[in-house]
Amino acid sequence: MATNPNAIDRYGVIGYPISHSRSPVIHKLFAYQTGQNMRYEMLQVAPDKLETMVRQFQRTGGKGLNVTAPHKVEVTKLTDDMSERAREAGAVNTLVFRDDEIYGDNTDGIGLVRDLVTNLGLSLKGTAILILGAGGATRGIVGPLLDLEPERLVIANRTKSKAEIIADHFARHGPVESCGFDGIDAEEGWQLVINSTSAGYKGEAVPFPPSIVTKDTFCYDLAYGLKLTPFCTWAREQGAGRVAMGWGMLVEQAAESFQLWRGVRPDTAPVLKQLVVSA
Ligand code: ATR
Repeated sequence: MATNPNAIDRYGVIGYPISHSRSPVIHKLFAYQTGQNMRYEMLQVAPDKLETMVRQFQRTGGKGLNVTAPHKVEVTKLTDDMSERAREAGAVNTLVFRDDEIYGDNTDGIGLVRDLVTNLGLSLKGTAILILGAGGATRGIVGPLLDLEPERLVIANRTKSKAEIIADHFARHGPVESCGFDGIDAEEGWQLVINSTSAGYKGEAVPFPPSIVTKDTFCYDLAYGLKLTPFCTWAREQGAGRVAMGWGMLVEQAAESFQLWRGVRPDTAPVLKQLVVSA
């Protein structure tokens, strides 16, 4: 019997630009693995078209969207309801269209935590965590990291005031502090340093003090690439014990979105392996 293409549930990712996105590949692999009949599209949406495109996607039977840069904060205004973690982050990376309502969630933080704890085997209770950068990505990860009960979590940013705002916002959740790059405690012996900045991509020197890295430091870059990222390269040069790029976070946050939409959790390990091998 012929399949009616209209019966296939539609999903997609919106961003600007979007051509670099790996989400379509990941969700196609998840759908194949779990036997879900669904389609996943890549939609380039300029900021001034955000609302029109989201509502049009919903009207034409779309079931859910992933949201990437630069729309994660702006899209919160289109939601009728949000998860607690999305509200706290002030940013949404997953939309679920339920009847006439738009529900927003943020799976970035839990995706990072799953990668760090489950895939990479880190135990973060009682540790010192340093986050470099205070943009949208940092907002999404602070809450879930504090849930792991580190002894301290410091947000350091080029523009110190932005780090302060995020630290104040999450202060009731746990021991979170803020500073500029020159104010980072050089004596701490950070167990985990997370890069959430785009520093180093324009060929400039990576602007972090070398003292933040010791042989016992795990350096994690939220960014990922075909080659080692500037931050990971720098961290290796400083003698970091381990470095990792954000491929695992990418796949884990996608798995959380997939579960929200389809009610099944895909096995991420083979997808991560396939993605990194084929990257
Ligand atoms: P994202 O959503 O990916 O977090 P963003 O909100 O634009 O992106 O945030 C980018 C982060 O990278 C910010 O913390 C920014 O620092 P400022 O707040 O001072 O702008 C940081 N960043 C970008 N380029 C940088 C550079 N060359 N050196 C240091 N930090 C940089």
